[in-house]
Amino acid sequence: MCGIIGYVGEHQAVPVILDGLRRLEYRGYDSAGLAVMGAETIEVLRAAGKLANLEELAFDQPPRGSVGVGHTRWATHGAPTEANAHPQVDADGHIAVVHNGILENYADLRRELLDQGVPLASDTDTELIAQLLGRATGSLFERVEAVLSRLVGQFAVVAVSRDEPNTVVAFRNGPPLVVGVGDDEMIVASDVVALLHRTKRVIYLENGDIAVVHQHEAHIHNDGRAVDRPVETLDWDAGRMDKGGFRHYMLKEIHEQPDAIRNTVRAYLNADRTAVNLGDLGFDHDRLAEVRRIHLVACGTSWHACLVGKFLIERLTGLPTEVDYGSEYRYREPLVGPDVLVVGVTQSGETADTLAAMELGKDAGALLGTICNVRGSSSWRMAQARMLTQAGPEIGVASTKAFTTQLVAMVLLALALRQVRGLSDGTDTEIIRQLLRLPLAIEQAIEGSEEAYDQATQLLAEATDSLFLGRGCLYPIALEGALKLKEISYLHAEGYPAGEMKHGPIALLTEGFPIVTVAPATPTREKLLGNLMEVRARGAVVIAVAEREAADVAQVADIVLPIPAVDRLLQPIVTTIPLQLLAYRVAVELGLDVDQPRNLAKSVTVE
Ligand code: M6R
Repeated sequence: MCGIIGYVGEHQAVPVILDGLRRLEYRGYDSAGLAVMGAETIEVLRAAGKLANLEELAFDQPPRGSVGVGHTRWATHGAPTEANAHPQVDADGHIAVVHNGILENYADLRRELLDQGVPLASDTDTELIAQLLGRATGSLFERVEAVLSRLVGQFAVVAVSRDEPNTVVAFRNGPPLVVGVGDDEMIVASDVVALLHRTKRVIYLENGDIAVVHQHEAHIHNDGRAVDRPVETLDWDAGRMDKGGFRHYMLKEIHEQPDAIRNTVRAYLNADRTAVNLGDLGFDHDRLAEVRRIHLVACGTSWHACLVGKFLIERLTGLPTEVDYGSEYRYREPLVGPDVLVVGVTQSGETADTLAAMELGKDAGALLGTICNVRGSSSWRMAQARMLTQAGPEIGVASTKAFTTQLVAMVLLALALRQVRGLSDGTDTEIIRQLLRLPLAIEQAIEGSEEAYDQATQLLAEATDSLFLGRGCLYPIALEGALKLKEISYLHAEGYPAGEMKHGPIALLTEGFPIVTVAPATPTREKLLGNLMEVRARGAVVIAVAEREAADVAQVADIVLPIPAVDRLLQPIVTTIPLQLLAYRVAVELGLDVDQPRNLAKSVTVE
């Protein structure tokens, strides 16, 4: 959740750290801080609120030094105040620590330190790590080794010590850490986006690793032994990470969907684009052919992609498919074994709950796959078979292009399963043809109708509650539309299967209540229109996502957000676009921070 950076190199640390934190801010943005190794002391700057406050603090008299650490926080222990911001230091101010994660034995450690008379200056679990390191003896590496066994929970930590002015030490158990290898510098970070513009050569740290990082080298130990970790080269383009002339990352990312989808489709097709290339998917053909059941595990928006995936996979392959929240799977004792394909679906590849669910599947002998947007992430490295959605870096906290490429990946996965089960026929080539045309349909959906969006935006911006309705595999799209609206506009919105309205939610309706519905041409559209008549009869105002030419929808809906007609299997992807644009416009209309909505963070690396 938090963003971490550590620097040791040729240059002044503060500009590098602030630049890195700016790129990491989407991981947490309620306070920020940095520490730089000065000639005799470690200088610490911290500020509550957005990174801009820290930048202002550092602007006039930036601490000078070429070794340091920085942090942007998503609060767990203690309010987002200056005192609780990171870096946290030990009692003597000799050691400074930045941390992502949660210490589960926080209360015990805190009591122990207080009993020993250690003055604690914050409510954080991070300070406990700094204090423990300060009370241990030896080099910083030896102190980390000594303290590591005392820490229970999930953590990624970067520390500096006044006694070792040319060293940064990083250690992890859970949340990710990478070491960027530059020409005359090393950068440790929680996320490659912090260092991509400086180097593309990275070392991924594994759980239990302690990395002692100097300007030209990094020594890594795990469980008392020196270990070699490969230097990998990233293929992401740092240039894709600015706003590219758009007002917000979210809007830019909505507009990037035609390309993201095109790239994802093409990445997994054979040369003449008539079939899925299983080799590229990383699946062992025989092992995949043994699969009898599928479990899809994910959180948030990625979970909605799984709900659509269940429809697609069951319809196209006949394989029973279950969908679980990552946070629920391991606690429900799922019936999982070697005949199951468990797929962790995650944009970041770092969502703690999804990773834990995948771990459970792996331990039970299931074939483990992931649909993920970050090569080299934890889910990527854990899985036996991987599909990389080719969305590129997604910075806006509200997921857009990652979601639609996940939906594309679900179609490709279903096609792959058909292939290994010998089910492929003309249907497959037709689906592929439709997939190849999809980017154009997405472009048309993005074009939309200015007037309709203006009306719909006004309606929602003035409301306090709304309901999103869909049926079949468009019900998950209603859920996704409602999530998008609530996470960036803070308006209450719920998704429902349209047929459920009269079993309770219809009681909510009053004059002018907004209902948003996903209504492209399907065999159940007539039934949906019947449901809409019922809500209109009770005063609701209906905003429908439907084909421009759908006269039957136009008769029932007050506002139509237009989409082009596409094959039924691809309707979930195309109908998502207007709901993204609507949520975006409402948030802008309300003057809210679209890319960094309150209380959220892009990557949820704690349980
Ligand atoms: O990185 P992941 O896909 O695993 O993230 C899962 C959710 O945290 C994420 O989709 C979240 O719901 C987004 N903010 C939705 O826009």
